[in-house]
Amino acid sequence: MSKKTLFIVLVSLGVLALALAACGGSAEPAAPEAPAAPEQPVAEEPAAAEEPAAAEEPAAVEEPAAAEEPAAAEPVVELFGDSLRGGRLYDNWFETSGVDAPESDQPLWATQSSNSRSGADTWRCKECHGWDYQGVDGAYGSGSHMTGFAGILDLAGAPAADVLAMLQGSTNPDHDFSTVMDEQALTDLALFISEEMAPAGNVLDLTGDEANGQTLFDDTCSDCHGPEGLAINFHSDAEPEYPATIANDNPLELLAKVRFGQPDTEMPSAIDAGWTDQEMADVIAYVATLPQNDPVAMGGRMYDNWMKALSLDAPEGDQPLWATQDSNTRSGADTWRCKECHGWDYQGVDGVYASGSHATGFSGIFAVQDKSADEIVAALTAENHDFSQFMSEDQLGALVAFIQEGMIDKTQYINADKTVNGDADAGKAFFSECAECHGPEGTDIDFADGEEKEFVGTVASDNPWEFINKASFGQPGEQMPAGLRLGFSWEDIVNLMAYAQTLPTE
Ligand code: HEC
Ligand code: HEC
Ligand code: HEC
Ligand code: HEC
Repeated sequence: MSKKTLFIVLVSLGVLALALAACGGSAEPAAPEAPAAPEQPVAEEPAAAEEPAAAEEPAAVEEPAAAEEPAAAEPVVELFGDSLRGGRLYDNWFETSGVDAPESDQPLWATQSSNSRSGADTWRCKECHGWDYQGVDGAYGSGSHMTGFAGILDLAGAPAADVLAMLQGSTNPDHDFSTVMDEQALTDLALFISEEMAPAGNVLDLTGDEANGQTLFDDTCSDCHGPEGLAINFHSDAEPEYPATIANDNPLELLAKVRFGQPDTEMPSAIDAGWTDQEMADVIAYVATLPQNDPVAMGGRMYDNWMKALSLDAPEGDQPLWATQDSNTRSGADTWRCKECHGWDYQGVDGVYASGSHATGFSGIFAVQDKSADEIVAALTAENHDFSQFMSEDQLGALVAFIQEGMIDKTQYINADKTVNGDADAGKAFFSECAECHGPEGTDIDFADGEEKEFVGTVASDNPWEFINKASFGQPGEQMPAGLRLGFSWEDIVNLMAYAQTLPTE
């Protein structure tokens, strides 16, 4: 089982816990979408739907069939489930329900040829019916996502039981999802279609109030995404993607994420929080004004491992300058990492890598921070040290930004014996951001491949210089947040490190 899978499982457990907590909690507030209201016969309907435990309700379901009205033309079948989870299932049902993504194409996929995706994507409801639920009549009427398949928006308000039957193949056996999803998931989807699906224009046609959007963002989103939305890059650094990217490129998708939350994460649902359409418009307007790239943190991840950060295969062989030293016996990919030659403290031979198995004798680059961008680019494209063959201008620019603004003098924080000048008690609070993935003791993910264990505590104790880099800028190629972009100061990160040194190392 890969660590990524483990991570996903852990997050799923978190979501499950959240869902359970939500079940026990108060009922969903009155649906904010205007169109949903007229369809609800009783104002409290949504509350009833969320309380499967209520003794009277299940009986009610069975009763329409009872003696008095056997001939009733339209028996009202009430379904119980979580319509908001249904919205996340619509987005991505395999991530939401924590099952493996199908490998084959959805059977209906072969009936179109304009959308060239394959495999798991072809099973996502949104891929065929669109973020706007309008299929060929909406945003997916053209472009790479076009399939020509119809929309389903006209089913908003339809009896959920009828929709459930459709998802079980009543109208087309190739559209039978009961082979891949359990009944509860299908029920949640049916409830979503019946109760929550609404025209995107209800929100996106409103003029958002950016100032109010900022308040909402700071209160609701910044804990995880950071005050500028830069803490998590959703994509490889080769094509960075932050909330603002989605707000500008695909507001329909952002609206869906805001309304229902992100599958398989603890990201909250605005409907659950009782937001109005106007409030959603406000937050979307504000998110669109946030930055869409973060060169300093990206450069920090590239300095760590630019191949992983940019999703590139390592170049063949050793870095050409590697042959000019013989004290460090590593080979291949390692020899291409900036940190391997210049050190986690940026001091090369004058720092931590002066001795030990990582010693190369190569110089540090700490003093280079005072040089101009042109001079730094010249160094990065010099003979035998030419990274422009692997990186775009923007990516080289991120390294320059990191060198000029992201390097700090770590000797002020870390002593020769690896103890750190920080306050572990003060750092403890920040660790909750890390515990989400690494567990309360930092031991949920083991970074080592072999017998020996390597946990957050191990890195903090054995290599505090490395720890600062990872905690500040994130882990290359992973969706680990960049601490500096969560709003932590350098001092916060050092305190966090002092706390992490108290965690188990094996
Ligand atoms: C591969 C493309 C594809 C995927 C994936 C897909 N659908 Fe459909 N869906 C269709 C097509 C095509 C139709 C028209 C079906 C027909 O022929 O009856 C349809 C019809 C429907 C209908 C209306 C049924 C009817 O016959 O009027 C609903 C509701 C629906 N889909 C919901 C969903 C949901 C929910 C999901 C995700 C679990 C989903 N669809 C996934 C292609 C897809
Ligand atoms: C509890 C933490 C948390 C909160 C609070 C949160 N998010 Fe997220 N969000 C996440 C995580 C985790 C991801 C997933 C990153 C991934 O899968 O790549 C995510 C993903 C996203 C995505 C990208 C989805 C995609 O697949 O491209 C957007 C956009 C987004 N969040 C916006 C917001 C907005 C706006 C808010 C506030 C209304 C918010 N988030 C609140 C944790 C959170
Ligand atoms: C194989 C070892 C090696 C790797 C990998 C490496 N460098 Fe270098 N780097 C050197 C050597 C050797 C020099 C030349 C130092 C000198 O001028 O004496 C140098 C010079 C530099 C300089 C200019 C230093 C100065 O004083 O002007 C910068 C900036 C730099 N490297 C940054 C990087 C970055 C960023 C990366 C990763 C993309 C990287 N290096 C990867 C070995 C390496
Ligand atoms: C969204 C999940 C997530 C969060 C939150 C998170 N991490 Fe990570 N972290 C990861 C993943 C995934 C890896 C890579 C594991 C691997 O490579 O095996 C990782 C790796 C690490 C590593 C070791 C990297 C190495 O290569 O040795 C350290 C140290 C670390 N994280 C510290 C932290 C700290 C400190 C925080 C809190 C500021 C944090 N992480 C928050 C997911 C996360």
